Amino acid sequence: SKMSLESAKKTAAEQAVNEHVKDNLKIGIGSGSTIVYAVNRLAERVKSENLNVICIPTSFQAKQLILSKDLKLGELETYPELDLAIDGADECDIDLNCIKGGGGCLLQEKIVAFNAKYLVIVADHTKNSEFLTFNYKKIPIEVSPMAYVAIKNRVESLFGGELKLRMALAKAGPCVTDNGNFILDWFFEGSSKTDFDGINRAIQMIPGVVDTGLFIGMAKQAYFGMPDGSVIEKH
Ligand code: A5P
Repeated sequence: SKMSLESAKKTAAEQAVNEHVKDNLKIGIGSGSTIVYAVNRLAERVKSENLNVICIPTSFQAKQLILSKDLKLGELETYPELDLAIDGADECDIDLNCIKGGGGCLLQEKIVAFNAKYLVIVADHTKNSEFLTFNYKKIPIEVSPMAYVAIKNRVESLFGGELKLRMALAKAGPCVTDNGNFILDWFFEGSSKTDFDGINRAIQMIPGVVDTGLFIGMAKQAYFGMPDGSVIEKH
């Protein structure tokens, strides 16, 4: 049910924060619904243990979250080397490759994750899968607005599937990212044999592609909240 998914997100997020946060860390803060529980727990620990941590956001949402909890806000420009990043995922496979960007924040998430020594994924059990696109059928790609039709056509002819321009929810027109770009959702079904690393590299080479929601070889550890209240950990 909805409630048990929420409690699964919460237990996973809290365990990750309990096990990874220490004094004097610079921490990348991800985006989405699960990260809210991680930031709540982080704020509790900062207060009760008087920790000095600096939080670097991956989105407008993350920045608001950090500010709302009175945590210390930093930016990558001043803190280009992060100790840790904590983030959600739309899907995470057995090698900890992930699909991200369901919430449209993949570019800043990937930049922050890349510049963190250790990326930890927090999620409910529905995100834990054998291979990418097993459960989650779309790969978000952030693109420069002028190139969206060209990129759609190019990816469809190279790899198949279908790319759809993500539309805004509360206005007529496209969803515009925090960086002023569009999102193409690539509906694509891979298998356990699909070379997502190669696909990712090929798509990143197309001019106008800003980045993809394929996070290959980036996460070091993942926590999945289970329906029974336990947490499964992969690394
Ligand atoms: C944001 O664009 C995404 O990459 C999120 O990190 C991802 O969608 C996970 O979000 P939830 O925690 O809401 O599942």
